Amino acid sequence: MNNSPKNIEQTKGLFITFEGVEGAGKTTNIEYIAEKIKAAGHEILLTREPGGTELSEAIRELLISKEYPEMHINTELLLMFAARSEHLNKKILPAIDAGKWVLCDRFTDATFAYQGGGRGISETNISILEDLVQGPLRPDYTFLFDLNAEIGLARARNRGETDRFEQQHIDFFNRVRAKYLTMAEAQKQRYRIVNAEPNLDMVQQQISLLLSEIL
Ligand code: TMP
Repeated sequence: MNNSPKNIEQTKGLFITFEGVEGAGKTTNIEYIAEKIKAAGHEILLTREPGGTELSEAIRELLISKEYPEMHINTELLLMFAARSEHLNKKILPAIDAGKWVLCDRFTDATFAYQGGGRGISETNISILEDLVQGPLRPDYTFLFDLNAEIGLARARNRGETDRFEQQHIDFFNRVRAKYLTMAEAQKQRYRIVNAEPNLDMVQQQISLLLSEIL
């Protein structure tokens, strides 16, 4: 007879991502959401893309640096996924396996929106890399902080020095926003849309309501 204690299976954590055009207030709102999730008793890992590990942050510097204004769009795409592969395997997956709720500021939907919608790379090619790097992993929930791209860009540019992406023409950001909205429409189960245009109080009221369905 085997008297050894039963192997208690560790419950996996949730994977929640946050998306939107620049200036949508993601950083402030993610911190607010993280506090709410912690208060509900969950352990969290707060991270971001591109970045999240030492190597991925180094790749991020290459991606946002204005030193490479003419970077080829496929180079940009591959660097996004190189950073993601490292981040996923070294940080995100171990945290989910340990039962943590992983809150990630941008993930692959940003690639579909920026490199797909913005730069015009085909969805098929992005999907191939998504499958290669992630296997079946997809976020459980995605919060889209949505606002008029012109307002968002003005907010972002007001914050100070702009990076390589923030220097793009407004048409680029309109395409990015449109792609996000198309994805949200097609994947209603996963997406939660927050209207990021009104003041912080009103944005946080929406977030509280949406979170109450998840927590
Ligand atoms: P951040 O402003 O959210 O820190 O992100 C840096 C920039 O990287 C932002 O302009 C969006 C861009 N980006 C992509 O173009 N594709 C991606 O897959 C990710 C994660 C970010």
